[in-house]
Amino acid sequence: MAQLERAKFGSKLGVILATAGSAVGLGNVWRFPYLAGENGGAAFMLVYIGCVLLLGMPCMVSEFIVGRRAQANAARAFRMLGGRTPLALVGYMGVITGTLITGYYAVVSGWCLEYIYASAAGHFAGAGPAEVSRYFADFETDPVRPIVWMVLVFLATHWVIVHGVRDGIERASKLMMPALFILLLIVVVASCLLPGAVRGIEFLFKPDFSKVTGGVFLSALGQAFYSLSIGMGCMCTYASYFGRQTRLGSSAMQIGVIVILVAVLSGLMIFPAAFSVGIKPDSGPSLIFITLPNVFREAFGFAPVLGYVVAVLFYVLLTLAALTSLISLHEVSTAFLHEELHITRRRAATIVTATGIVLGGLCSLSLGGREWLTLFGRPLFELCDFVTGQMLMPFGGILICLLVGWYLSHKLVRDEFTNWGTLPGRYLRLFVFCVKYVCPICIVLIFLNQLGLL
Ligand code: TRP
Repeated sequence: MAQLERAKFGSKLGVILATAGSAVGLGNVWRFPYLAGENGGAAFMLVYIGCVLLLGMPCMVSEFIVGRRAQANAARAFRMLGGRTPLALVGYMGVITGTLITGYYAVVSGWCLEYIYASAAGHFAGAGPAEVSRYFADFETDPVRPIVWMVLVFLATHWVIVHGVRDGIERASKLMMPALFILLLIVVVASCLLPGAVRGIEFLFKPDFSKVTGGVFLSALGQAFYSLSIGMGCMCTYASYFGRQTRLGSSAMQIGVIVILVAVLSGLMIFPAAFSVGIKPDSGPSLIFITLPNVFREAFGFAPVLGYVVAVLFYVLLTLAALTSLISLHEVSTAFLHEELHITRRRAATIVTATGIVLGGLCSLSLGGREWLTLFGRPLFELCDFVTGQMLMPFGGILICLLVGWYLSHKLVRDEFTNWGTLPGRYLRLFVFCVKYVCPICIVLIFLNQLGLL
């Protein structure tokens, strides 16, 4: 049992694929374009890339260090290493954050399923931009359909989770990551060839720094954390399945590069097409869903069958990418319940799935304009996204940096960073400097600015 409990990823490639599978998902393909669209395009993207490299990378390595050292679920890992300080509570916060994300994340994954179905059934054939937008608005506010899809998503996730670490997560990631990447490239080319696409490309690459406000910084910071799956113990849980020879620093860099690449490609897929057919870039969470069907219709007008195949395949792969991320979110809470309450993995997974379905259902219903599901002027769906992405995760990030930078012994950090002295550890000093000073100070400044205190 003990062996089963702390299973290991099978290979080096498995480590990268599983962590990248967690990182790459709707965060990059759906959330990044909609936030970039709302926050001024190019300037947001630059700030985002800066946040990933400067703040995200050190936080990710810190999470890896905590997870691999503790060899336990997020809550126990922070409790073990955080001693009697409040830092011991980071893991619990992460489990709560994860649960909040899991619910609405599954809703958006369900939207992808609907789009597989709708494009396979030919519902978008001949539909112009206005009809596509109406289709989405009708679907999103429907009380039943999105929820049915969401439940299906949860059942698939549940199935992978109860089949264990190596078999489930790793195998699922191995196949589809490269496939998604190739398809993304195809759709980018298609989108950039549309008439008037240049304005979209400019929107994404010509920064207008007058648009950069404190809010833009906080969104970009939150998005950096979100797309890297850090700040809530997810990477920490995965790192507990790493072997002793996994290189923490270079793994993080590889994932960072992949995540930035996918985000930029997603922007290049959405904005040229959105400008070409006249969809506003600040359409919010619906952006990719009202834009993509237009790309497939317009760009593949010369070969409708090809357009059909590319569309269906694209939604399938996007759903799979969403699933690998959802699995990693689910795994955080499942590992927590399984190890802390001493219940079987299956039962732990069932509890997480049931909670997720209830929360996801409420999030989905909140988009139908129901008063009782609107809190602080935002539908529950948006509230979950906002609270986790712009508050809990950056806050978790500060705490993780404080733990690794100030509380853990230098020897422990050095051992983990250099794999017990077998690596040169060239960047160790830079890393320590970042987690000690750069990350906590920058994140605090961004928070203060957002609160109007700076
Ligand atoms: N990073 C994933 C994405 O971009 C989402 C995700 C998976 C996540 N696990 C997470 C976000 C943990 C925050 C924390 O789609």
